[in-house]
Amino acid sequence: MIKKNPPPGTSDIFSDEMNDWYDLENSAKYIFSLYGYGEIRTPVFEYTEVFKKGLGDETEVVKKEMYSFEDNGGRNFTLRPEGTAGVMRAMLGTDVMNGNEKRVYYIGPMFRGERPAAGRKRQFHQIGIENIGKKSPELDAENIAMLVDYLKEIGITGSEILINTRGNKEDRIPAEKALKNYFEKYINEMCEDCKHRLNTNIWRILDCKVEGCKKIVENSPDVVSYFSQETQDYFAKVCKTLDEFGINYKVEPRLVRGLDYYVHTVFELTHSALGGQNAIAGGGRYELYLGQKKKPVIGVGFAVGMERLLMVREALEVKSKIEDKPFVYIVSMGEVAKLANIKLAQELRCHNIATLTEYENKSMKAQMRAANRLNANHVVIRGDLEIEKNVVVYKNMETGEQEEVSQEELINILK
Ligand code: HAM
Repeated sequence: MIKKNPPPGTSDIFSDEMNDWYDLENSAKYIFSLYGYGEIRTPVFEYTEVFKKGLGDETEVVKKEMYSFEDNGGRNFTLRPEGTAGVMRAMLGTDVMNGNEKRVYYIGPMFRGERPAAGRKRQFHQIGIENIGKKSPELDAENIAMLVDYLKEIGITGSEILINTRGNKEDRIPAEKALKNYFEKYINEMCEDCKHRLNTNIWRILDCKVEGCKKIVENSPDVVSYFSQETQDYFAKVCKTLDEFGINYKVEPRLVRGLDYYVHTVFELTHSALGGQNAIAGGGRYELYLGQKKKPVIGVGFAVGMERLLMVREALEVKSKIEDKPFVYIVSMGEVAKLANIKLAQELRCHNIATLTEYENKSMKAQMRAANRLNANHVVIRGDLEIEKNVVVYKNMETGEQEEVSQEELINILK
């Protein structure tokens, strides 16, 4: 038997919720276009390799959370767990590989097989942006500034910006050694995942959520101090540019982010209105090695979680800027009137007036109930008698007043 609920961790989104979603989407289009970004739409599924190579084999997302499947032709695909890798795949072979810049944004569903919880879904929606092909600390700061502008546009105040540097691959070698020396001493007291991470991806220990591990992490070496001067200067410039922009942020030396493609700047935005899953956005600078050649696709970007933004907006009581268009409900009495009213509905729509009417033979009372249930702003009543008199009865649902008018007068009132 088919259940009424969608699979765990997914949701049906009904039309009465959509104005809030449109608001997030329209605001993104508006703010991002001020920074020269245009939309890109890539497939919802990709060859599994795109994510394995792009995000890193040892990331939690790749190891535990991907929805992968074999199609009838034996090809291995994965529903995208995030947007960056697919967009970078699309960039292979374009002129961004020669240092030209591309600015793109995307909106759509992502899929991760995580344990569902408040703010954590298996199908969730992201709005993401990628600035591809260029490298500069000021550009990284511009990215964060655009995110701040976006949050302001959608009425979200009170978020906290955490930033850090992940250095580059060479920088990390001495830092990794220092981490290993430190964590080896405590590894027996740490969780099973951390025991595994010690040899596979030691950085992930830094954001382990297990209480016992968190205590040990608190006293771990300051990894950034092991990074090269060049990397530290790069990060200082990101911070200086943010200062120039007047953006408040907190440097969080243990922020590593869950995806392996990050280099240099990383950032996360959190909001106290959310519980355990308090990240509303995350991003940073990256290098993705996807192509045949050893040349990575480089860029900087971020993604916001739409469900989480909506949760914050609800907590802050932010209303959507988009409102439903007023609409008319036409009530018919009698066969002749019914056909005439179906034609009237078509005519009103030609005048850009949203109109509904009843097609089944229902009583006047039932039709008025339907108009109320649908929150019609105006009701037009026309029976065979009104047809003979060449009038309609117009009822304003807000005031309750009603009057007999001609069809021309009706159109003028509704317009
Ligand atoms: P991420 O931090 O994995 O980054 O995800 C970005 C945002 O998506 C999170 O801050 C959160 O709001 C939302 N999100 C993630 N997982 C879930 C979930 N299971 N349920 C609900 N919301 C979720 C990325 O995905 C990177 N691709 C961002 C990026 C773009 N970095 C560079 N460019």
